[in-house]
Amino acid sequence: MAIPQEILDEIQDKTNIVDLISSYIPLKRSGRNFKALCPFHSEKTPSFFVSPQRQIFHCFGCGIGGGPIQFLMQIEKISFLEAVEILAKKLGITLPKKTSPQDSLKTQAYSLNKEISSYFHNNLFKPQFKKILNYLKQRGLKEETIKKYKIGYAPKGFKNLIGYIRAKGGSLSLLDKLGTISPTPDGSYIDLFRDRIIFPIFDIKNRVIGFGGRRVEEREDLPKYINTPESILYHKGEALFGINFAKQAILKKDYCIIVEGYLDQIIPYQEGIENIVASLGTALTSEQIRTIGRYTKNIVVIFDSDSAGKLSSLRAIDLAIEQNLNVKLVKLPSGFDPDSFTREKGSQNFLRLIEEAEDFFFYKLELLSEKFNLENIQDKSKLLLEMLSTLSKFNNALLKYEYLKKLAERLKVKEEFLLIELRKIEKQDRKGLSFKDNTFLKKELNFAEEYLLKSILYKPELLAIVRGVVQPHEFSHKTLRRIFEECLNFCEDSEDFSLKKLLTKVDEELASQISRISLEEFNFDQETFKESLLKVKENSRKTKIEILKEKIKEAEEKKDYLQLKTLIPEYEKLVKERKLR
Ligand code: UTP
Ligand code: MN
Repeated sequence: MAIPQEILDEIQDKTNIVDLISSYIPLKRSGRNFKALCPFHSEKTPSFFVSPQRQIFHCFGCGIGGGPIQFLMQIEKISFLEAVEILAKKLGITLPKKTSPQDSLKTQAYSLNKEISSYFHNNLFKPQFKKILNYLKQRGLKEETIKKYKIGYAPKGFKNLIGYIRAKGGSLSLLDKLGTISPTPDGSYIDLFRDRIIFPIFDIKNRVIGFGGRRVEEREDLPKYINTPESILYHKGEALFGINFAKQAILKKDYCIIVEGYLDQIIPYQEGIENIVASLGTALTSEQIRTIGRYTKNIVVIFDSDSAGKLSSLRAIDLAIEQNLNVKLVKLPSGFDPDSFTREKGSQNFLRLIEEAEDFFFYKLELLSEKFNLENIQDKSKLLLEMLSTLSKFNNALLKYEYLKKLAERLKVKEEFLLIELRKIEKQDRKGLSFKDNTFLKKELNFAEEYLLKSILYKPELLAIVRGVVQPHEFSHKTLRRIFEECLNFCEDSEDFSLKKLLTKVDEELASQISRISLEEFNFDQETFKESLLKVKENSRKTKIEILKEKIKEAEEKKDYLQLKTLIPEYEKLVKERKLR
């Protein structure tokens, strides 16, 4: 349920954060603010601050912060909605059960999807489709699992779902938007899923966002699985099958198992391994990794033996390393996938494999060692480059060095040589991001970006000015960029923007950054504001120019004149813009 913004505003307005926090910990006045020993980490001198004016808190020790809602979420370990409910209750505000009209299309879409999934699900229990239910049972699915996952069946024929929804008075155009039916050249529609077992795909909040359908007959001319296409609810690279069921267990176990297929998630889950999600066939995306990263920093990726060799999936895991996650890999014995392995060998043995999971780095090394012949100098150097490129992704210098040592040892190469090559790669990586290697300039830039955000939070009317000059992608700092994006979302919804409202819309990570930015010492100054604006713009141009230069160089090397013809004018235009300042 989405809570209307007016009510969130009212809750934020009427809650006194000082009272709220002092009901948990003693607060002491300190100038305009209050301070205390932080309840979220152990400390001897107080670094936890509460601002009665801005109605926010922030701990400069552990970095946690936000408004009243975030405080309650953190201290009680509850969800956003639960925190809102508690605060509303204290204030005597009743929360509406229905959603506001503004997200009515999505709301209708969710409810239609629910309707569709019940239709498919109920089919399974009709006598004429008993065969399908039996197939599922014979594949090891218990009836309670089938019900929990709302697995279903789309019968043979072209108009079953259409007929059902029509009879219910549902909208075919919405059905089309959700991708479960396809338009035909003659202006009518046909069902997308015909004679397929249906797996609803849920989002983290248990809402059905899409469907996967497995063919029933083993026919080579039909794809084994089809999925609903991208829609207003379903975004392929973001969905993680099973996350709604798995999230609690992921938190509790503090690691997440990632498999590929529907049944590879369902069967282990059914057998008690609940901290498991499926990426649905494709290589992991950074969005999927980010979602998991909110629950745990540890992931174990499981490959079937046939997909294990795919280097593309290994690249995806480089992304996880970039996001500071610990990645381990398990390669299943040949012929098995997680589904069949769990059924045939038992969940205990599955867990054992996970315990023995190999560190991603060495797994990659092993895989490459099979591909390349280490006796061949050319091959060996290719392998080295591939491994060093992974190393360059580590943010933790200590970890990076430990791995580098191990790599040198295994390949019998001197550490010094590896280090030289690694530096080269890192330098190349940075080329596009002009300022990254210069800490002083980077600090200046961060200062400018933060100054803009501080100004916006201090004087919301400045948002329009900043927005007129810079775009979110022109922020170099990832978190600051996300905060700016969130601010801009207000403009799009044409709502008044305020710090309080902003805090009702962001996740904990952003809330903590926002509270820090708004609590830190800040004196607004028109000149500094202008300079900051120009600096951010300038940096973005510079970065673009650097990237273009690289591309031009590459195109020249490849003698790709067609490319050059578009790249060069682009480059010249940017350089001119820069000179104009
Ligand atoms: P698999 O081919 O390994 O199938 O694809 P599976 O999950 O083991 O299916 P069963 O056990 O034969 O029923 C793994 C995953 O890749 C995606 C699906 O998400 C599938 O679960 N996939 C596969 C597709 O999207 N389309 C396909 O045609 C095949
Ligand atoms: Mn399988």
